[in-house]
Amino acid sequence: MTTGMEPIRFTVNGRPAAVAVPGGRRLLDVLRIDLGLTGSKEGCGEGECGACSVLLDGVVVNSCLVPVCQAAGHEVRTVEGLAADGRLHPLQAALLETGGVQCGICTPGMLMAGVAFLDAGAAGSTPANVTPMDAAIREAISGNLCRCTGYARIVEAIRLAAEGRVGAIAAPGSNGAMAAAPADGMSAPVAPLHATDVPGAERDPGRAISGDPGADSPRTLAEAYALLAEGGRRPLAGGTDALVQQAAGVARASRFLDLSALAELRGIRLDGDALILGASTTYAELRRSPLVAEHAAVLAELAAVVGAAQIQVRGTLGGNIATASPAGDSLPVLLALDAEIVAGSPRGERTIPAAAFFPAYRRTALAADELVLRIRVPVVPHRTVAFRKVGTRRAQAISVVVIAVAWHWDDGHWRDVRIALGSVAPTPIRARATEAILEGSAPTAEAAALAATTLAAEIAPIDDVRATAEHRRAVAGRILHRIIRDAAGW
Ligand SMILES: Cc1cc2nc3c(=O)[nH]c(=O)nc-3n(C[C@H](O)[C@H](O)[C@H](O)COP(=O)(O)OP(=O)(O)OC[C@H]3O[C@@H](n4cnc5c(N)ncnc54)[C@H](O)[C@@H]3O)c2cc1C
Ligand code: FES
Ligand code: FES
Repeated sequence: MTTGMEPIRFTVNGRPAAVAVPGGRRLLDVLRIDLGLTGSKEGCGEGECGACSVLLDGVVVNSCLVPVCQAAGHEVRTVEGLAADGRLHPLQAALLETGGVQCGICTPGMLMAGVAFLDAGAAGSTPANVTPMDAAIREAISGNLCRCTGYARIVEAIRLAAEGRVGAIAAPGSNGAMAAAPADGMSAPVAPLHATDVPGAERDPGRAISGDPGADSPRTLAEAYALLAEGGRRPLAGGTDALVQQAAGVARASRFLDLSALAELRGIRLDGDALILGASTTYAELRRSPLVAEHAAVLAELAAVVGAAQIQVRGTLGGNIATASPAGDSLPVLLALDAEIVAGSPRGERTIPAAAFFPAYRRTALAADELVLRIRVPVVPHRTVAFRKVGTRRAQAISVVVIAVAWHWDDGHWRDVRIALGSVAPTPIRARATEAILEGSAPTAEAAALAATTLAAEIAPIDDVRATAEHRRAVAGRILHRIIRDAAGW
């Protein structure tokens, strides 16, 4: 277990690092302030801009949303670790070649997101007007903002690097033209990196402990329960909500209970007639799970529209559920699937239907000493599930309306219809009156029109910065109409 101010050890760009700071301190602050690696930038400080992107065990993350306790024992790679032996990384060279650097603020983050893409060798599906490579690159960097809007040149640079077509460019400060280094080229490990390596660190030791929360990283559930029972600790999984709230001063914790080492909260498996998803299952894991693809593909579909790459690799289903935001994208899907949430405490386990889990705005049915352990999704043969999210932009969008509809066909009629929505009421809701309209009816144009108007009247959205209540009612009705039309094929 990691407690108190024992040094937290990890590797940065191949060098061992040790910092004696509170475990809830942001990795970004440790890199920039404690270790003097100022290449990673702070833009928004809340996961939106990607300027702070680094690689954690080769996966791109926002270092502003990673507590340093979760880096313990892992490999961190920052922009400082890209050039090797006086030679630029191929992507650095390509950015210079295409002119993809303007003010340069986004560049370190773009580089790390681009390198993660190149290292994964990824290529994805595509809209018709771009090449598959460009679409995959755009998805890979969709968590990174460039205020100078140099996206076309950045995408071109990543494509050049992926295709191995980067010309020879010298690293700044080197003499003569030098070829770009191989993609995995890193300096050989050198002396350990300590906070005291940083000029000024000894003169101002207080800045390393500036009110950051502490963290405990239990290895077993029993340890976790015991720490939770002591009080004063906030569970933390991926940190993509908790660290944003911490930075904003909302729900500040003095100490985190880091759940990342708990094996009991991990894994996706089939158990009889149910798919079991550990609470710490990330969106990225949902997207790539063959079991999810086979038995509840809608979960992979929703995971693909949560945040962007950096959020999907860290954010968890358990965290989405426990945050209980009315805009949480997984919640309507879990309601429509009749999922159950298994909570655990020293008193044992209990199973709570998703329909009873969200009693009020941002409240859950969890007791103070309980954790979400896993989610149980019934596998229902021949069930169809449709999911739509409407946001204000493609990536990193908080839902304006999110809707999930589950049903099966009975001789051309709707049966077991479940319609669930988010962002239209203080909690995620089932639209029972609209379900009753569809139940047993044929998917005719008349039924679709009646269902759409019933839904618009049944929900109780509010006006906020993202949309008016009136807009949300209209959008919800229209999406349901479209879902019915698509299902019926007319
Ligand atoms: C830039 C950005 C974009 C985002 N986009 C989306 C989006 O498109 N859709 C969406 O729905 N959300 C989005 N989110 C919100 C967030 O990523 C999700 O809610 C995510 O699922 C939270 O999971 P986490 O593991 O990071 O939770 P954490 O931040 O670790 O925890 C969140 C809360 O849950 C509690 N908690 C976590 N795990 C447990 C557990 N096992 N038992 C009990 N309590 C627990 C914590 O105490 C905390 O209160 C976004 C966030 C950011 C910063
Ligand atoms: S600083 Fe913007 S995502 Fe971290
Ligand atoms: S180059 Fe200026 S923000 Fe991207």
